[in-house]
Amino acid sequence: GMENQTTPSSAHCVVLAYPAQGHLNPLLQFAKRLNHRGVKITLVSTHFFWKSISTKQLSLSSLTIESISDGYDDAGQEGAESLKVYLEKFWEVGPQTLNQLLHKLAESGCPADCVVYDSFLPWALDVAKDNGLVGAPFLTQSCAVNDIYFHAHKGLIKVPLSEEKYLLPGLVELEPCDMPSFISVYGSYPVVWQLVVDTFANIGKADWVLSNSVYELEEEVVDWMMKIWPLRTIGPTVPSMFLDKRLEDDKDYGISMFNPNNETCMKWLNVKPKASVVYVSFGSLAALSEEQMEELAWGLKDSNSHFLWVVRSSEEAKLPKGFVGSSEKALVVSWCPQLEVLSHDAVGCFVTHCGWNSTLEALSLGVPLIAMPQWTDQGTNAKHIVDVWKTGLKPLVDEKGIVRREAIEHCIREIMESERGKEIRNNAVKWRSLARNAVDDGGSSDKNIEEFVAKLKHS
Ligand code: UDX
Repeated sequence: GMENQTTPSSAHCVVLAYPAQGHLNPLLQFAKRLNHRGVKITLVSTHFFWKSISTKQLSLSSLTIESISDGYDDAGQEGAESLKVYLEKFWEVGPQTLNQLLHKLAESGCPADCVVYDSFLPWALDVAKDNGLVGAPFLTQSCAVNDIYFHAHKGLIKVPLSEEKYLLPGLVELEPCDMPSFISVYGSYPVVWQLVVDTFANIGKADWVLSNSVYELEEEVVDWMMKIWPLRTIGPTVPSMFLDKRLEDDKDYGISMFNPNNETCMKWLNVKPKASVVYVSFGSLAALSEEQMEELAWGLKDSNSHFLWVVRSSEEAKLPKGFVGSSEKALVVSWCPQLEVLSHDAVGCFVTHCGWNSTLEALSLGVPLIAMPQWTDQGTNAKHIVDVWKTGLKPLVDEKGIVRREAIEHCIREIMESERGKEIRNNAVKWRSLARNAVDDGGSSDKNIEEFVAKLKHS
């Protein structure tokens, strides 16, 4: 009941993020877009996750931060003996503490109307429904990838894979290497595999299925999904200050688990010629083999381009001995302000692991890509980058699974110097305007967000 509320017209949404950088980012940005339209937001993740992020960053203008427990309040996932044990505990304690939080909000006179949750946490839908609230899973990965996982959930993709080609509704023909790693290297991460497949166990109860994608990027698969679910694309969740002409006053646009070397990066970039720098990053999780790291290092050097390379401190020891970390030609940092880097004129291409956030950010900012997928959804994203959106190249992977220095150098030179590179850049610029239009007034995602908010206010 809304009768006790002082502002009955404003809906209240609990937004629940899975505790990982690549999952928090899109939910936070979506929450901000809802908030901008007058929806009250309570942003929720685990006690430990919020603790591990500097509190200064949590002073997020008008969002309220709350926590639930994963059962490991002092150490998070590291505190559990395995991911399996961690998730079992989280699945037990998470729903209870989310339920308590919803009760607390109701008692404080500001009850939630809706729970938007990362689809990796499907129990949140049961909690929402038990409390009589609107429940909306938020797909943090592409619709293509969710299409594949959904078919796997239904038992319609036989693993281990035995066919040469796969044709799923709304998708281009996929080879085994274009499938998410849990399928292409079946048995590699059984626990995460189960996690992604379980996304769909209760999805039939969802009031909405929100997707961090752009209709124009994945038209056919979105059309197909809209026939089976109340799906709406709301992406890209790139902060509006990087996209819109409207430039929101949104200084604290992100929350970072790592300390970015902002000043070092921007100073170094500022004196570089237009489109002369190769930006290299593998996101917040991927771990490269020492051999791959060495090949990448020399490939970058041999390309003769400037490069800005993010090597997280946990990866640093794998850099080849004697590899220069900071010079006029090259800068290696442990974390950077990626959106500012990708928006910078000096950046000419992005060597990426094809995490979905990095992929959307690069598409939205018009940066050509070199795709070096590592695991999870990244191989499928790479396939789309190269063959569907045509905004990048994928270097050859050898029989040991390593991308050799020559292949890396070749792709960099193709993008930075060749006619083919120009075509790819033109495609990238085309996608940039499509992505911007989607979130601009009247665009596909903008309309979907409007619709979501309007219905919330009337429910
Ligand atoms: C993970 C998975 O790998 C990804 O495939 C999935 O879709 C989401 O969860 P992650 O590996 O961290 O995420 O990659 P990505 O999705 O690209 O997210 C990384 C985020 O960190 C991006 O928003 C990026 O802008 C940011 N980032 C990365 C920085 O701000 N600075 C950096 O130096 C590197």
